Amino acid sequence: MFLKFDKRYFNRAFTNEDPWRYSVSQYEKTKYLRQIEAIRAFCPQPHSILEVGCAEGVFTSMLREAFPQAKITGIDISPIAITRAREACKDCANVELIEGDAIQVFCDGLLHDHRFDVIIQSESLHYIFVRLFLRRKVHSYLRGIAERLNNRGIFVTSNGINLQSRLMLLASYRLMGKLCRPELAAKYREWSDFRERHIGYDLRVFRMTRSA
Ligand SMILES: C[S@@+](CC[C@H](N)C(=O)[O-])C[C@H]1O[C@@H](n2cnc3c(N)ncnc32)[C@H](O)[C@@H]1O
Repeated sequence: MFLKFDKRYFNRAFTNEDPWRYSVSQYEKTKYLRQIEAIRAFCPQPHSILEVGCAEGVFTSMLREAFPQAKITGIDISPIAITRAREACKDCANVELIEGDAIQVFCDGLLHDHRFDVIIQSESLHYIFVRLFLRRKVHSYLRGIAERLNNRGIFVTSNGINLQSRLMLLASYRLMGKLCRPELAAKYREWSDFRERHIGYDLRVFRMTRSA
């Protein structure tokens, strides 16, 4: 059976606070820090960051601290998550949190007049892939990401690799690699205090290079 991974699905997940233990898990913290290091390495002074699937704003706050000069925009499909993210980031200047569907942003032109130095989408690519695949919009979505990057801007993504996600992620990375230059393809394996087992995940960086 295909799960729908839509607004209802994620709102149900967020009935419990912090359903994926993002705020307390050492595994998640390490993964977030790796993503921040990747941004520092490939785009040291970003002025604008879009975080897709920002959930309850745990990583958003870390991005805020790491890049105080940047305007940070977070988007999430779940209104419950966005309400909590706004609370978590209420003292953070220069953070905007939007309830919305990333598919509408990248396929249907929402935020069409915005460009970003960094777009980061972690642990939601495979959920969105299922919906995109059913609508034959995978390429259009990734092209939408590429088009919303400033020249030399980067797309950063880090995702748990398992039997369900592996092929979707590989297909996404292959397509993205035709739109933007691959800069980093790293793999890690770490103990998850939440799942109580070792989990493998990747970290990918792609750079938009437009010729003048
Ligand atoms: C597993 S959580 C990952 C949270 C965070 N990115 C991280 O790496 O810790 C997936 C998040 O993506 C959001 N999401 C899923 N589909 C989405 C979509 N189409 N548009 C925006 N957000 C979406 C969910 O609501 C959820 O907050």
